[in-house]
Amino acid sequence: MVEIVPSILSADFSRLGEEIGRVERAGVRMLHVDIMDGHFVPNLTLGPPVVKSIRRITKLTLDVHLMITDPDRFAPMFIEAGADQVSVHSEACPHLDRTLRLIQSEGARAGVVLNPATPIQVLDEVLEVADYVLVMSVNPGFEAQTFIPNVLRKVRGLDFRRRELGLQLPIEIDGGISLDNAGEVVRAGCDWIVAGSSIFHSADPAATVARMQQIAREAQAVHV
Ligand code: DX5
Ligand code: ZN
Repeated sequence: MVEIVPSILSADFSRLGEEIGRVERAGVRMLHVDIMDGHFVPNLTLGPPVVKSIRRITKLTLDVHLMITDPDRFAPMFIEAGADQVSVHSEACPHLDRTLRLIQSEGARAGVVLNPATPIQVLDEVLEVADYVLVMSVNPGFEAQTFIPNVLRKVRGLDFRRRELGLQLPIEIDGGISLDNAGEVVRAGCDWIVAGSSIFHSADPAATVARMQQIAREAQAVHV
């Protein structure tokens, strides 16, 4: 089943609990939390204390996306704060295998993220270690950017590769997803669809989630 994963980066942080409650009532099961350090990406967001506060008010799966240069140092803190799964950028991890196993040993699922310019071949040796792969469909750092269509070729390649290996490896996509392209990314093979501005900047976030879920269900019916 395809999951719509709201990204709180686009939410109103002065009413974060309320914003999370809205998408929760719309039936989502996962929440995407973007962590930026001002080094790996040219922006700053939030740290473990905020994740800890979110953990207290929701049972949703907390999907923490680390856009930071030193994930080995900080991943354990986010897991301690309540992250259920943590993804790290392949571009930030010289010892990717070790980092993934570290996250798992701390009790969370471990994901690998690929920037738009990073080929899927860098994952070849860790596909059996990672719990999921996140394909960036924008260059990370900001919400509300334009979707880069070329990344769909990578999604199709990954989908082919996981079938070849017989792996149940979810493919997540992040950046520039809206009601207009959600169907296309599901048909390419994506399982978890992250969406920030298209949900939280819409007039009715719950209705947008419901519509996106419906589009995903219909698209999944044609993806074989
Ligand atoms: C971008 C972040 C995304 C962002 C997506 O660097 O990783 O998760 O919140 O926002 P939208 O859906 O607006 O592109
Ligand atoms: Zn993200």
